[in-house]
Amino acid sequence: MLNDVQTFFDQFDHEDITMQWLKASQAALQVKNGNVGRWSAALDLITPDKKGVASVAKPYISITNSTDDQAQLIEGLSKLMPWRKGPFLIDNLALESEWQGDMKWQRLKQHIQPLRGRKVLDVGSGNGYFTLRMALEGAALALGIEPFLLFNYQFMAIKSLTSSCTTAHLLPIRLEDMAPAAIFDTVFSMGVLYHQRDHMLHLQQLKKMMAPEGELILETLIVDGVKGHALIPQDRYARMRNVHCLPSVETLKSWLEEAEFNQIKVINVCKTTIEEQRRTEWIGENSASLEDFLDPSDDNLTIEGLPAPKRVIVIAQQ
Ligand SMILES: C[S@@+](CC[C@H](N)C(=O)[O-])C[C@H]1O[C@@H](n2cnc3c(N)ncnc32)[C@H](O)[C@@H]1O
Repeated sequence: MLNDVQTFFDQFDHEDITMQWLKASQAALQVKNGNVGRWSAALDLITPDKKGVASVAKPYISITNSTDDQAQLIEGLSKLMPWRKGPFLIDNLALESEWQGDMKWQRLKQHIQPLRGRKVLDVGSGNGYFTLRMALEGAALALGIEPFLLFNYQFMAIKSLTSSCTTAHLLPIRLEDMAPAAIFDTVFSMGVLYHQRDHMLHLQQLKKMMAPEGELILETLIVDGVKGHALIPQDRYARMRNVHCLPSVETLKSWLEEAEFNQIKVINVCKTTIEEQRRTEWIGENSASLEDFLDPSDDNLTIEGLPAPKRVIVIAQQ
């Protein structure tokens, strides 16, 4: 799985560092996981007759002319559920993920430095929907990192269908597993900060990966409130167990200042809608989604009585 990445990394001058990333990835793949057999079998089913061409056909990443056996493709993709991120269109098969990723992409696309020719790091990439979008925008390297193995298998499934997106790669590691290297022109951390026990450490680690003129795109959950205010859920938040801290926008900006980022700009704040996060048949047996996580009598509150999900996108410079 890592051979391709290794060959690709060879063109850059950072052998020691990329070697460490690959070693960490190798170690992550060696951790025992009872699902790997099933996921590998799914990949075997997906093997296409020919590799298709990937492009953006909003809201989908579309791959055309990739497979003649759609039943087998559907069987393979179904074994890799739940599909949280997407959506994808494979010939005429719409793989409707829980999240409409294109909505987030449209909110940020006009505001960021064009990705053409840049080295891009996508921290917490999930199955790499956005990593692929970054490659399709012309990134010289679009490197996603995602510790959850299933999402790496989903990425391999999608990549196996296309000969496009050759600059997109995914490694099964956490940001904190990577030897720091100030080489990325653009670093994305989307939907990751609130999962961190130590938000300042995450911001510092992001900064260490950024080239001198590098740009950070940070997307995270926030709450209303003044500078200094943050919500620390005592238990679950919108049914999620691992949500540690939701700052107000002003608090978040102060964290970025403390981490010594420059030119901090808020480009979007919006409430998550059930159009963007929805139930679909591709999320499998546990088909609950946002509408099940909100208070049925007041969609301004989560089921736990906390403020409903609202997200911010902030851009900052190294
Ligand atoms: C909510 S998803 C966001 C996926 C995608 N970036 C998006 O915006 O839709 C967060 C992902 O970050 C991953 N993650 C959490 N902590 C991480 C860390 N320290 N380093 C890398 N990935 C992490 C999780 O496994 C999860 O798949």
